[in-house]
Amino acid sequence: MPEPGRHTIARTASYEADPDEVGRVLLLYSGGLDTSVMLKWIQDEYGAEVVALTVNLGQPGEDFDVVRGKAMDLGALECYVVDAREEFAHEYLKPAIKANGMYGGGYPLFTALGRPLIAKLAVQKAREASCDTIAHGCTGKGNDQVRIESTVIALDPSMKIIAPVRGWQMGREEEIEYARRHGIPVKGGTEAPPYSIDDNIWGRSSEGGPIEDLGEPPRDDVFELVADPRDAPDSPQDLRVGFEHGVPVALDGESMGLVELIERAAEAGCRHGVGIVDHIEDRIVGLKVRDLYEVPAAEIILTAHRELEKLVGTIHQNRFKRSLDEQWAFLVYAGLWYEPLRENLDAYMDSVNEQVSGEIVIRLFKGRAMAVARSSPNALYDEELAGFSQSGGLFSQQASPGFIELWSLQSRMAHGIRRRREKKEP
Ligand code: ARG
Repeated sequence: MPEPGRHTIARTASYEADPDEVGRVLLLYSGGLDTSVMLKWIQDEYGAEVVALTVNLGQPGEDFDVVRGKAMDLGALECYVVDAREEFAHEYLKPAIKANGMYGGGYPLFTALGRPLIAKLAVQKAREASCDTIAHGCTGKGNDQVRIESTVIALDPSMKIIAPVRGWQMGREEEIEYARRHGIPVKGGTEAPPYSIDDNIWGRSSEGGPIEDLGEPPRDDVFELVADPRDAPDSPQDLRVGFEHGVPVALDGESMGLVELIERAAEAGCRHGVGIVDHIEDRIVGLKVRDLYEVPAAEIILTAHRELEKLVGTIHQNRFKRSLDEQWAFLVYAGLWYEPLRENLDAYMDSVNEQVSGEIVIRLFKGRAMAVARSSPNALYDEELAGFSQSGGLFSQQASPGFIELWSLQSRMAHGIRRRREKKEP
């Protein structure tokens, strides 16, 4: 039995760990304040051993040796650093690109896509290192807890989970105080801007602190990657993005792997102020939140992909796909990576993307990324027909009046009936 007053939180889910049964914990460790405090706190409160896991998804500017050193200094038995960039790009970002993955009209899902991979690696490492419990640093207010926990329990129903930040009563100030008392270095110092940051090669988000004041525009200290569009170069840059079967494979004619391509696109976008998004978002847990995103690569690549799809798809494919894209994005946002519907949708995405090959030129200029030229062997576009030749071949303008008469038949009838009824009514 736990001492009275200590771990008195009632379990509401089967996978919540009983404090007495926690022996060795796999901690998802970022090196930030929350997870550093957790690393110590778990050892003290649970008397448990901690193995740390840090996943490299291409967080810009992160030094993983430093993160690992910090974990070891704080008493971790071991700190694994897994470079998962290739897997992230190929197994998560590729399907996202094919599905034009975007939630709420502005969020390209980079965090949502990263979580199931991080959680999967956590399950793998937890088993390898004989851990009975996985710990993460998500709060009780966000989507990330949903994504991580639903993945863990889908992959290993016997794994227990603890989420100390959700339960402890410490705010930022108390955490900093705890860190000071336990000799935990605070990244960026205690004066660092009070934002909650998450990032990977597909984007960077900032939440919390002054961002929560909806009446105020973002402060300049939020954006660390993308240049202020006002300071961007005065002449545009045209970037030619080549696709094969829906996947970007070349920039300006040079073939490259997906990770490098994303990084190169991001660089160009950052320079030109592309990919800043100020977003009000409906979280899965009911709250609305304001997020500030820096998503230069996603902005460029998704714009190019959508443009190419439009060029090669029929009107029916294009109209239908939009609603499936929306479904796909929602499942991913909502943390249901292992929902079979997602796989069903992916099968469709793969099938329709077979035809999505060609090149789109994206003009980067003062914060904008705009398609300005297009080419594809599969384009459903015929310059001669578009030029309204009178050739009477595939497209005959003479046939148009007949088409219009039949096309509008039902609508005209319905309109006429309504008018007649209105006239009869007193
Ligand atoms: N609002 C985004 C989402 O729900 C970004 C979350 C960022 N996470 C974080 N811990 N700062 O996916």
